[in-house]
Amino acid sequence: MGRGPPRPGGPWARVLLAASVLGSCLQPAPAQSTRPPGTIVLSPPSPAVGGGVSLAPRDPPQNLLTCAWYRSATADEPGRILTYYPSEPSAPNIGPAHTGRETGGPGCALHIAGVTLSDTGNYSLLMEAPGNRVLAAVLLRVWEMLPRPTVTPNQTLVPENRTFSLTCNSSPSADTRLWLRDGEPLGPSRRLVLSPDNRTLTVLNVTRGDAGAYQCEVGNAVSSKRSEPSPVTVTYGPDSARIDPPGPILLPLGSPLTLTCVADSVPAPSYRWALNGTDTGQTGSSFTLTLTTSAQQGTYECQAHNSGTNLTAWASVAVRVPGPDPPPPDANLGLSAGAIVGIVIGSLAGVALAGVAAYFLYSRCQIEPPQAKAAPVLVYENLPPTACAGGAAPPRSPPDPGPTYETLQPRQPDVYEELK
Ligand SMILES: *[C@@H]1O[C@H](CO)[C@@H](O)[C@H](O)[C@H]1NC(C)=O
Repeated sequence: MGRGPPRPGGPWARVLLAASVLGSCLQPAPAQSTRPPGTIVLSPPSPAVGGGVSLAPRDPPQNLLTCAWYRSATADEPGRILTYYPSEPSAPNIGPAHTGRETGGPGCALHIAGVTLSDTGNYSLLMEAPGNRVLAAVLLRVWEMLPRPTVTPNQTLVPENRTFSLTCNSSPSADTRLWLRDGEPLGPSRRLVLSPDNRTLTVLNVTRGDAGAYQCEVGNAVSSKRSEPSPVTVTYGPDSARIDPPGPILLPLGSPLTLTCVADSVPAPSYRWALNGTDTGQTGSSFTLTLTTSAQQGTYECQAHNSGTNLTAWASVAVRVPGPDPPPPDANLGLSAGAIVGIVIGSLAGVALAGVAAYFLYSRCQIEPPQAKAAPVLVYENLPPTACAGGAAPPRSPPDPGPTYETLQPRQPDVYEELK
């Protein structure tokens, strides 16, 4: 190579040259290398940005005189980094493509320190030995230590049966992208659709099991990084509700009572409690009360509403205070057992009807205090014609304008005397 640097002269070089010529005569050339002559070994094979790398010919010719490294696929002077003389290792000839980070070494190796992404490219090495010129080339790829990727969800609250997608934002030098949910790699599924580069994950026909923390993991030859978990919530329900304890509940006056409404939904439902169709103003999942009056008996209903799905479920339970008197004419007591199981529009209608009925009856019976009915002893009473003793007062009875003849009351001597 005519443009190369001057070869060192001197007696030692001549001796070496003579010896190498002799050696090459003794050794048959084909046996010298069973591999392609231009094999260059990178060490480490995948250098990372900021690190160092060595490029060395695997089977250099014997008795090398010069090794010239080029930052290109061809051995042209503008791309020459340095020329190394094995006989004079401390005095390499620096070329125009030298950056200050390259040094030559034994075995014709080239060391590059502090590699950058721009060091990626073709490198070639021209080795000269007496009667032998070998050109070797290699592609050096410098790898970036990947930054941590991020996941961007297109939505985080996803209703059942809908679709959502996640995008993995990562360095373009990531070679692989994988998706994980709750730390586990996502298995193949027909509902999971990946873009060709795995950058976007789309989940179709979302089920409750699709909820979880999604991560993407990017990798290349030198690094592997996982994103922070990106939570996805699947909203659903409530499909049904129930009240604990189930009814009918029979409790003496003075007893505390806690009713708990149980409804499965995401996000958690809000609750309303009604007694006999009238909103109680209670909004917790539990409703605690103390039964102090028999007016507190009836049908307790909870309404569980999910503002995310706009679905509502109902449950009801019958609560009664035991006593010798017949239960208040509350048609719901029979119905509510069924209502607990079913939850339903039907029960709603029942509650509404019962409310109307209860209102009607109570308004008619207001003059009769409940204590009168609760008296344990048989009592003979003066009964005005409009009294609703049987719960079926004839509404047609006109008010009696004349003086009323009342029957004698054994326990009211005063009345008896007056009549006399
Ligand atoms: C894309 O993801 C699939 C499934 O996880 C995986 O088998 C494949 O290697 C990934 N491809 C790339 C380029 O990361």
